[in-house]
Amino acid sequence: MRHHGTSRRELLAASAAFSLAAVAYGRGQDAPAKPPAPPGLEKRRFGKTDMQVALLGFGGAEIGYEGADQATVDKLLNAALDQGLNVIDTAECYVDSEAKIGNAVASRRKDFYLFTKCGHTSEPPKQGPDWSKQGVLQSIERSLKRLKTDVIDLVQLHSCSLDELKKGECIAGLEEAKKQGKTRYIGYSGDSTTAKWAIESGHFDALQTSINVCDQECIELTLPLAKEKGLGVIAKRPIANAVWRYDKTPENGYHTEYWERLQELKYDWAFGATKSDTGPHGAAGIAMRFTAMQPGVCVLIVGTTKPERWAQNAELLRAGPLAKELHDAIRARWKTAAKAEWTGQT
Ligand SMILES: NC(=O)c1ccc[n+]([C@@H]2O[C@H](COP(=O)([O-])OP(=O)(O)OC[C@H]3O[C@@H](n4cnc5c(N)ncnc54)[C@H](OP(=O)(O)O)[C@@H]3O)[C@@H](O)[C@H]2O)c1
Repeated sequence: MRHHGTSRRELLAASAAFSLAAVAYGRGQDAPAKPPAPPGLEKRRFGKTDMQVALLGFGGAEIGYEGADQATVDKLLNAALDQGLNVIDTAECYVDSEAKIGNAVASRRKDFYLFTKCGHTSEPPKQGPDWSKQGVLQSIERSLKRLKTDVIDLVQLHSCSLDELKKGECIAGLEEAKKQGKTRYIGYSGDSTTAKWAIESGHFDALQTSINVCDQECIELTLPLAKEKGLGVIAKRPIANAVWRYDKTPENGYHTEYWERLQELKYDWAFGATKSDTGPHGAAGIAMRFTAMQPGVCVLIVGTTKPERWAQNAELLRAGPLAKELHDAIRARWKTAAKAEWTGQT
């Protein structure tokens, strides 16, 4: 079965080559300049675009909000790119995330697809949302500068309301930026019925939306539609903020909603020994593999501030889809327990 694009035989052959190269490297025989990369991660076609994206991307919110220093971001991104990362996602308003990404990897711009978001100005004095056509165009100019590039691969509207979408100014701004060659593709980042409207509008090449074990509204509401219309789909919050880490309500308010949902969903694998199992059958592995197998999902942009995390998570995804029984049990539990207000979380 070629579920993950690469057959088991190909993976084994690649692993064997990796082990041999690693041994040679360890002995110093024909030592390469750096350790060999592990076998490739599955790549998926990003909707109707020309992009083939590695299944595990990088979410840039955490490095901004958690204040990761530049040396950490340099190490994290360069190591991940060496190991197969090819999608970096960020936003103008993630504090200094864009600038850190630009500093870290602008010199190897050809190695990755660069996605950002616009609509929230972080520059004083005009901080806050600005969904005007001009505001969107100015936001993209600032992003280009910070990211130290001439062109972005995908610019997304950063979760504006349905009213703003219907007004159309922000969409006109994105379309103008595309026409001017500042971005190759345009997308909407958001959830629930607003995301559905965005897909149906026909304006967008991509949808970024929350998809995870604690946030499943999209699985029936928007994902099949996005797939049918040929949009590339980016799973945001794909590991459900790993909320099984917390024994009590998380101090980080952004993680609270999923933590509360999890207490009611009571997946057995999210409690007890499996919650700290770091392998593919532990909570993190199960959560990410669940997200990766939803219809139309192209890339999971897990957020992190830890340099070793990307490789660990790539290894978990290499285990492939969950067994059907486990996947179906997670879906069934959601359908029984989910409340009407458990809509897609921005
Ligand atoms: N409206 C929007 O457009 C919007 C909203 C939210 C998010 N996003 C995008 O989506 C990206 C991802 O969202 P997110 O960061 O909120 O959620 P997430 O990726 O589901 O969760 C990230 C959290 O999970 C932890 N984690 C990652 N791998 C782990 C593992 N194997 N085991 C245990 N913990 C693990 C990370 O901690 P460590 O630092 O310890 O790795 C981090 O605290 C963001 O960076 C952003 O690009 C967009």
